[in-house]
Amino acid sequence: MAIERTLSIIKPDGLEKGIIGKIIARFEEKGLKPVAVRLQQLSQQEAEGFYAVHKERPFFKDLVSFMISGPVVLMALEGENAVAANREIMGATNPANAAPGTIRRDFATSIDKNTVHGSDSLENAAKEVAYFFRETEIHSYAWTEKK
Ligand code: CMP
Repeated sequence: MAIERTLSIIKPDGLEKGIIGKIIARFEEKGLKPVAVRLQQLSQQEAEGFYAVHKERPFFKDLVSFMISGPVVLMALEGENAVAANREIMGATNPANAAPGTIRRDFATSIDKNTVHGSDSLENAAKEVAYFFRETEIHSYAWTEKK
């Protein structure tokens, strides 16, 4: 299996609920290591640029305004099959469809306030990690087997 990197964002609702630690624990328990972490208030321009792929979608305006409604935690996660593993740990985009035991099922309240974002492919993961982190801000360390 390949060691990959992916981008994770804990959205403003996750910070408001005080569950940063619980969310990071779920990643670590499954062998995904945060190799870069930053708490940041996104500007409108940064949020629009990050979600540019959705700019024609009807939910774009609400998505951007929610993502700038409070600070977020930006993380690069590293581990075996990190892109797919992160998506499995997060659960489906709409928490109503998310499997039991996933972050979105357990903590999210709606498709808008869905607590976490994760890259959807290895190609996008590289772009999304680079959107927020310089290579010098990312520090890999020995990873352990998935528990
Ligand atoms: P995220 O993984 O951050 O990617 C885009 C976000 O848009 C998504 O999570 C949802 O929070 C939000 N969104 C709102 N409505 C929709 C929708 N109909 N389909 C997909 N994403 C949506």
